[in-house]
Amino acid sequence: MGALETSFPGIVFAPYGPVWRKQRKFCHTTLRTFGLGKLSLEPCILEGLAVVKTELLRLSEESGGSGVDLAPLISNAVSNVICSLSLGQRFHHQDREFGTLLDLMARGLEISVNSPAVLINIFPPLYYLPCGVFRELRQVEGDITVFLKRIIASHRSTLDPDNPRDLIDMYLVEMLAQQAAGEKDSSFSEDYLFYVIGDLFIAGTDTTTNSVLWILLYMVIYPDVQEKVQAEIDEVVGRDRVPSLTDKGRLPFTEATVMEVQRMTVVVPLAIPHMASETTEFRGYTIPKGTVIIPNLWSVHRDPTVWDNPDKFNPARFLDDEGKLLRKECFIPFGIGRRVCMGEQLAKMELFLMFTSLMQAFKFRLPDGVPPPPMHGRFGLTLAPCPYTVCVSPRT
Ligand code: HEM
Repeated sequence: MGALETSFPGIVFAPYGPVWRKQRKFCHTTLRTFGLGKLSLEPCILEGLAVVKTELLRLSEESGGSGVDLAPLISNAVSNVICSLSLGQRFHHQDREFGTLLDLMARGLEISVNSPAVLINIFPPLYYLPCGVFRELRQVEGDITVFLKRIIASHRSTLDPDNPRDLIDMYLVEMLAQQAAGEKDSSFSEDYLFYVIGDLFIAGTDTTTNSVLWILLYMVIYPDVQEKVQAEIDEVVGRDRVPSLTDKGRLPFTEATVMEVQRMTVVVPLAIPHMASETTEFRGYTIPKGTVIIPNLWSVHRDPTVWDNPDKFNPARFLDDEGKLLRKECFIPFGIGRRVCMGEQLAKMELFLMFTSLMQAFKFRLPDGVPPPPMHGRFGLTLAPCPYTVCVSPRT
């Protein structure tokens, strides 16, 4: 293992090379074993959604017309899917320990991106400053470490190699097998596992949560589109059962709406920094090996040479004349190439099931007299909508 490869453990920030390749392949295959991209994961996603639906209605009624902030409920449901896949357990949405973990992760991201701690990227020794946000960042990381390490330790003590329960068990089995085979260069270790799990939470929670929040925000701002989506769901699914992934192919307008919101909002607008692994000539420029490259997905999604009227919200741009879904090469919310999002199939499942279920059950609107939030969003590690509340009523 090279020095660079060990100094950026995990998947998201790991440099391109054999360690990243092995870890990513292992995690992707394992997550697929537990249902990523498959119908078998549907009940797990629906379980969290059932809680969202009950709580949403209750909180909206209690709000007395001022509306409910969707973010905590959606974030709980989304992170519980990652919890089920990787930790083998779900948490009640009012579980204090789980709530603390989510708060810590949110705070960690907030500090890393929106405070002087961002300077650590330029001058790493700042991380060790014994004051202010630098100290807080270390404290937050320490608390997350304790939480995840405790879960890994409890998996180790109850491990049954013949019956792996989740990603942690599968990882431990692989690690022990590599140790038994005497593989000296193996990157599989409990420390590395810790970073992998952290990456799945960081990459999989905020991105999906913010996408759902953007979609629902667009629905309250464009009530005509909301009604059209609901009409399509009523016609194809009806009201007597919850929508399933098997309905996806028959809900083109609904899917086009999700895609159009993803095009307009681009929750990971600058992807993740890449690095040129070789000196490369590109359009007359020489890009030296080691140059950091920041892909601008936002600009691709707003490029007027490929999109008609790119700043206009228009789900129909993803449909052909017969109303069938069109795939567009320049629609790349999950990035492209070898570092394309590892959770793309999972995210698509979650977005589809959450959106269709909520649209089927409820009508969403802004509270009376409240203007919509500014649509430029808030840029942290991901692009989140500015805070907003909505009134929710059951559809009659
Ligand atoms: C709507 C939700 C999501 C969006 C828009 C999204 C978008 C992205 C983007 C743009 C990248 C960077 C691609 C690049 O640098 O070229 C990425 C990387 C990644 N995503 Fe996602 N993501 C989402 C959900 C998820 C979920 C649910 C998971 C969890 C399984 C996940 C796991 C990852 C990982 C592990 C990487 C790093 C891949 C690598 O470097 O090899 N993402 N994602």
